[in-house]
Amino acid sequence: MKDRLRIQGGMRLEGEVAVSGGKNAAAAIIPASLLADSPSTIENLPDIEDVHVFVELLRWLGAKVVFEGNTMQVDPRTVDKHNPPYELVSRIRASYYLAPVLLGLFKRAKVPMPGGCDIGARPIDQTLKALRVLGAEVNTEDDVLDCSADELMGGDIFLDMPSVGATVNSMLAAVNATGATAIHNAAKEPHIVDLANFLSSMGASVKGAGTDLIRIRGGRQLHGTNYTVVPDQIETGTLMIAAAATAGDVMITGAIPTHMESLSAKLLEMGVNVQSEDDWIRVRSNGAFRAVNVKTQGYPGFPTDLQQPLSAVLTVASGTSIVTETLFESRFRFLDELRRMGANVRVIENTAIITGVERLRGAKVSATDLRAGAAMVIAGLMAEGVTEINGVDFILRGYERLDGKLCGLGASIQRIQVE
Ligand code: EPU
Repeated sequence: MKDRLRIQGGMRLEGEVAVSGGKNAAAAIIPASLLADSPSTIENLPDIEDVHVFVELLRWLGAKVVFEGNTMQVDPRTVDKHNPPYELVSRIRASYYLAPVLLGLFKRAKVPMPGGCDIGARPIDQTLKALRVLGAEVNTEDDVLDCSADELMGGDIFLDMPSVGATVNSMLAAVNATGATAIHNAAKEPHIVDLANFLSSMGASVKGAGTDLIRIRGGRQLHGTNYTVVPDQIETGTLMIAAAATAGDVMITGAIPTHMESLSAKLLEMGVNVQSEDDWIRVRSNGAFRAVNVKTQGYPGFPTDLQQPLSAVLTVASGTSIVTETLFESRFRFLDELRRMGANVRVIENTAIITGVERLRGAKVSATDLRAGAAMVIAGLMAEGVTEINGVDFILRGYERLDGKLCGLGASIQRIQVE
């Protein structure tokens, strides 16, 4: 699909909008459901391309899957293959979460190297190390992750950095391993906690998720479950930033405010009003922003996935902001697109120096990756005139109806079909 978004800038966002289920939580939970000996029902899944690819992958492996109205039913009892095809695997990053799952089910998994957004080098050395610690033989010849193990045994996994992907893969392997596993320097993101809760509801013993030491006692037969996926932290943040960017007044419902603390603090520092309670967050702004410094980090630090959307707003803040991207080096490529809209930005290695201009002006731009796409939408909402964004498919991979939700708040966004 080569559709474009056409945004008439300058509309103020106002009203109420509900957050969808977490993309990255879904990406870990859906493959985990294959480990059960009975069907599961997973609710509040986002209706996005990444989830649709997982449906195809699970069906290809032999599972019976129904996905309707944000709810998925997975019957894993008929899964009989350990080698998903490149054509499907390469469409999403999280497809390599199938490796520890299939290894547990079949003692062998052959999964081509994963795809996903091109946001810089995305090595998987920590996953390979973790699988080896638990006793798997692992080979990556011909760009295929080929692992085998007659029996996985629990062990101590020390991650060199708190990688989300390596933490998920370690957890999915550890529930299949006999005995105790400790994952040291684990990622602490909300989707890690959600995966732990999902595995626990299937009968697994998982302790400490949300801290940097996760302990798993493996080897139990897991059963099907009924589970509701956590709200999407990054979609919540994107909507908060969009509200601020447009001098809006938006109530975001179905959110978890504690997941948003690093962003809320940053918005307050910029002069935006953020209030929250229970499951809602209200963001109000007068459209005048102070420059701030931002450094991306793992949770509870400022998320790399919100760096691009927030940087878009900093292009019109008064003063100079310094943004340091510590995780993915290519997540500054989108700044070239913002420059076309009049932004004043310099990049030195992994630091962007953004000097605020009075306003952005509409232009023809491209979404270079999922979150860059969200950032360009926000830039388009703020800009004077019309912005056309190529690469809508990038955005739809990860946000459920982002254009529809923003239009519901008063944005003027049209999807234009391109032959
Ligand atoms: N890293 C390594 N070796 C590894 C794994 C990671 O050096 O084996 C490095 C990476 O290069 C990066 C850092 O560690 O610099 C963190 O990477 P991480 O493994 O945490 O990222 P990921 O698992 O590939 C997930 C999300 C990303 C999100 C990052 C960071 C999923 C499916 N993807 O990626 O989400 O940016 O964590 O929070 O959960 C997105 O949603 O747009 C997206 C890209």
